[in-house]
Amino acid sequence: MLLNAGFPCGQCVNKFGVRKMGICAGFLASTGLILSFFATSIPYLITTVGVVTGFGLSLGYVSITTSVGEHFNGKARFVALSFVASGSGCGAMAFPFLLDTLIQTYGWRGCLLIVGGLMGNMICFFAVCQPQLVDKSYYSPGLLETEGMSQQTQHNQQICENRNSAMNGSGTFIPKQQRPSIEKLRLLSRNSPFIVFIIAVCCTLPAYDSTLIYLIEFFKTKSFANKEALLLYFFMNVGNTTGRHFVVPGFVDTHIHASQYPNCGKCLDVGMLSWLHKYTIPTEAKFAELEFARKKYWKVVTRVIKNGTTTASYLATIYTDSTLELCDIIQSVGQRAIVGKVNMDQNSLDFYTEKTVTSVEETIRYIQEVARRKYTHIKPCITPRFAGNCSMELMTQLGQIAQSGKLHVQTHLAETREECDMVRKLFPENRSYTDIYNDAGLLTQKTVLAHGIHLTSEERKLIRLRHSGISHCPNSNIAIRSGLLDVRTCLDENISVGLGTDISGGYSSSILNAMRAAICTSNTIAIQTNLEYRPLDYKDVFQMATLGGAKVLDMDDVIGNFEVGKEFDALLIDPAVDGGPIDVFEDDTIEDIVQKFIFLGDDRNILRVFVSGNNILENLIKKSSEA
Ligand code: GUN
Ligand code: FE
Repeated sequence: MLLNAGFPCGQCVNKFGVRKMGICAGFLASTGLILSFFATSIPYLITTVGVVTGFGLSLGYVSITTSVGEHFNGKARFVALSFVASGSGCGAMAFPFLLDTLIQTYGWRGCLLIVGGLMGNMICFFAVCQPQLVDKSYYSPGLLETEGMSQQTQHNQQICENRNSAMNGSGTFIPKQQRPSIEKLRLLSRNSPFIVFIIAVCCTLPAYDSTLIYLIEFFKTKSFANKEALLLYFFMNVGNTTGRHFVVPGFVDTHIHASQYPNCGKCLDVGMLSWLHKYTIPTEAKFAELEFARKKYWKVVTRVIKNGTTTASYLATIYTDSTLELCDIIQSVGQRAIVGKVNMDQNSLDFYTEKTVTSVEETIRYIQEVARRKYTHIKPCITPRFAGNCSMELMTQLGQIAQSGKLHVQTHLAETREECDMVRKLFPENRSYTDIYNDAGLLTQKTVLAHGIHLTSEERKLIRLRHSGISHCPNSNIAIRSGLLDVRTCLDENISVGLGTDISGGYSSSILNAMRAAICTSNTIAIQTNLEYRPLDYKDVFQMATLGGAKVLDMDDVIGNFEVGKEFDALLIDPAVDGGPIDVFEDDTIEDIVQKFIFLGDDRNILRVFVSGNNILENLIKKSSEA
């Protein structure tokens, strides 16, 4: 009613003047709210607050803007009107907090009564309004409305005419030219922009308002504190009035080596197997020292959260205590994570390898310790590095531990041709690389297979059969020249695919970057193949970054989108943040803006990062300042 009654209200104000209608507006707005105090049903409230108060507020708004418009001229009019507009904006920001306090203190009935009283003040303000004198030269002479004027009005008109001015009984000047006429209505009814505007307002505003009202309740059910829910509503409200903020599900990084972060952005001159021995293993070995590990792990967790990763599947090192340090850091900030102590008993450098029995014992100790520490959002993960680094004996024991404890599993698979050759030679009795993991009992619904570039269709069938998922790490695949994963084929074959940064084979810790790299990879395949090939688009990669990732981690019953019953893991996005990487233009649709965020966005656009309703970005800032 408030937003749709503009036209009749304008007619009323035009006919009866600002003062009378303003008083009337105050009376209606106030009465509707006061009557709501006695409400016994929703239809009662719809009538009192929705219809009576809504019409009163609309009338009040038209009266206020008209009186300001009539009172001021030239530039002053624009300044005055902008004060009115920004005043109502300030009110909109302050009111959620005021209402919350009133509801907490006096209950909703008391709150309605108090706000009704406040609205009643409008009657007094308009009652003391002086009739306005309007410059007659503003309108054409001889078209003044004089019918039915009071003596006082006629006296005033005399004054006005003396000053070459005119007005009507309530201070509002009504030239006959401006009278609503059938002709004008007819013209208006043929004015297509006007009609489109009216339809758009009628359709969108009620939906918009009800969504926001629903959102506050929704946020509360997602374990937000009341104040936090209001604040988020406020952010979205301000954002929406300026067409800026939106909320998306948090990003899921399905494959990231936390222990390789010191090398992030360097050491990319050689292919994967040489890269492992030359740079990666020596770096991971330094994490035996706990103080070193703590500092580096803090950095990587900070970086990925800033980039909007709410859930990560981390690979740590072969060191149990050091891996537990990583868990402690993740827990202290509140990120959701799967964390694995790495297993490797062969083909590594001497200083970074385990005996088979030790590897198994340490894995069991790690799982037990994670359980003992009762982390809220962290799960342990069985992490045989890849078949090239693990004996069948080790992998089989790990498979048993995983299956008996229904634990997550993560490993590498078919990343480079050289690695596939190596593995084939190591396990000649197995039909394929994937078959090795299957034999060991490592392929389950909770298994994440990183890369999977060089798979046969038979291997993909096996992965599908076991309901395991693939972590696509496109930045890494190109940075260390492993190959191009054909994600479209995997998706067409119903294999779950998520995105991974694969730090530090990949040089970016951002899932936004992974989305872009996935599109580049897919486009490259499309260029190289036939015209029918359907490359991934921004919607596909966004899905992989959120719900797709959640499925790969077998967590899609908890996270991945905003379905009722899931946890509130989300990002608050400002696409046009000051000093940010995106320019938003007037004709950009919401879909355009989301696309721009995917292609151009970075951490500057991510204002808040929520895990289970907690703003973990804020936790991070607090912890950093304490450190
Ligand atoms: N294969 C075995 N280990 C690794 C690793 O650390 N990174 C990548 N990208 N591939 C691997
Ligand atoms: Fe990796």
